[in-house]
Amino acid sequence: MCGIVGYVGPQDAVPLLVDGLKRLEYRGYDSGGIALHTSEGIVFRKCVGRLTELERDLDARPVTGRPGIGHTRWATHGEPSVRNSHPHLDGSGRIAVVHNGIIENDQELREQLQAQGHTFLSETDTEVIPHLIEQALKDGAASPEAAIAQALKQARGAYALGILFADQPDTVYAARLGSPLIVGLGADAHFIASDVPAIVHHIDQVIYLNDGEMAVLQPDGVRILDLDGQALTPEVKPVDLAPEAAEMAGFETFMLKEIHEQPRVLRGLLEKHTHKKGHVDLTDLGLSADYLQQLRRIMIVSCGTAYHAAMYGKFLLEHVTGLAVETDLGSEFRYRSPRIEQDTLFVAVSQSGETADTLASLRLARERHCRVLSICNAPGSSLVRESDAVLFTEAGPEIGVASTKAYTAQLMAFALLSMAMGRARGEITSEQEQAWIKALEQVPNAIHYMIERADHIRAIADKHHDGPSALYLGRRFNYPTALEGALKNKEISYQHAEGYAAGEMKHGPIALINEYLPVICICTKTTDEVYEKMVSNMREVEARHGRIIAIATDGDTHVQAFAEDIIYVPPMCEEFSPLVNVVALQLLAYYAAQARGTDIDKPRNLAKSVTVE
Ligand code: G6P
Repeated sequence: MCGIVGYVGPQDAVPLLVDGLKRLEYRGYDSGGIALHTSEGIVFRKCVGRLTELERDLDARPVTGRPGIGHTRWATHGEPSVRNSHPHLDGSGRIAVVHNGIIENDQELREQLQAQGHTFLSETDTEVIPHLIEQALKDGAASPEAAIAQALKQARGAYALGILFADQPDTVYAARLGSPLIVGLGADAHFIASDVPAIVHHIDQVIYLNDGEMAVLQPDGVRILDLDGQALTPEVKPVDLAPEAAEMAGFETFMLKEIHEQPRVLRGLLEKHTHKKGHVDLTDLGLSADYLQQLRRIMIVSCGTAYHAAMYGKFLLEHVTGLAVETDLGSEFRYRSPRIEQDTLFVAVSQSGETADTLASLRLARERHCRVLSICNAPGSSLVRESDAVLFTEAGPEIGVASTKAYTAQLMAFALLSMAMGRARGEITSEQEQAWIKALEQVPNAIHYMIERADHIRAIADKHHDGPSALYLGRRFNYPTALEGALKNKEISYQHAEGYAAGEMKHGPIALINEYLPVICICTKTTDEVYEKMVSNMREVEARHGRIIAIATDGDTHVQAFAEDIIYVPPMCEEFSPLVNVVALQLLAYYAAQARGTDIDKPRNLAKSVTVE
């Protein structure tokens, strides 16, 4: 949720920390702060609100120093306030800490420390960490590393930490358990950060810290050790992310840039896995024909947008593989008594690979001896490290909080997986597979076409954005599309929106329909009965004077009779139509948000990566 960054090197840390934090602001953005080594000891600046407030404060009260640590916060314990924002200090003001994660036993630790004479200034769980380190030093810890280790052995929960000591003027310490943290190695400087894009401009190599590891960063090198003080040899990887990938490239927002990137991302993913002409090749996943034959069930678990991708995956996998497929939300699954065994393939879907509930569900599946396959966008993430196999979505960094390109890449991943599994299980023929690959090859161009219609979609959004609510309806493969369209709308425009299975409308939401309610109906034309059913549902809306916005296939004039507005999409087989239809809904939400004047890339209260329960 929160973002952290740290710098050790020859330059003034302030601009580097602020730049890194701005690139991490998508992780949380209700307050921020930095701490620096200066000639007067550790100096810090904190502010409430966006990082522009921190910049304003730094303009008014300039400071320079190095090394330094910084933090952008998404409040969990304690309201957003200067008092609660990081860095937090120990009682002597000589140890500063930034933290992402949650210390679950903070109350117990706080009481223990209070009994030892420590005074707390904030309501945060984080503040116990500098006090525990201070206490460990008082108790005779031999070094800062030993004191950190002693403190962390008492803490339960999750953390990624950056730590400065007034007495160690050339060192930043870091530690990780359950929350993401990387160490970046540059030519003459080293960094810590919550992710690579935050510091990609300054580093050539990266170390993904593992749980239970600490890092000691000094100008002449980085040491990695465990909490028992044993030196470890880390895996140092080259940075394979182009710095431009983390830039806005002339677009007004990251979200708009990411919507435009979808054709390229999907083409790349498809080409990567269909290089053997006419066949999907997912050999790397180790899903052998023997394994797939003995498989009985697939369980897909995820959260948020990734859950909608999972629902699509369920429909498609069932359709193509003949297996029983179930989906659940990470936050529900982990508290069930799920009947999963060795003959179940557990699929975790996550853009960030760090979502706490998805990770906890994965761990539960591992305890039950299920094979774990992840569909993930973040190399080096916890999910990736804990899976047996990973199908990377390769969408590149997604910075806009509302997911777009990562979602369509997840849908593409499910399309590829379904075909590979369906063929290996003998449920689809090579001819069918080839026909579907051909259909998928049309998707990037179809999305281009949608994006070219952006002005028309904007006009529709301008007309309908000011109502209190909107209803999204879809059926079968496009039922998840309706849910995702509604989610996009409420996430970024704050208009209340509900997605519903169109056939279920008459069991409740129909009561909402009146002459003011926009009802977005996904009724792209397919050869089967779903289109006809959808038309009947739209007739029901029309009869109650709802304002229908139809997502319809090019050339479908029939819908003109009852839709107030129509967004036409290119023809696409029903199975893959969600990859195109959702782009119309992303744009509709985008322009509604723009008309309502919201902060599109950083909608209120949301965080890109939810690393708490
Ligand atoms: C947050 C984000 C959503 C995302 C969800 C799951 O709520 O705002 O966009 O879909 O987390 O995240 P994941 O990284 O697991 O896909």
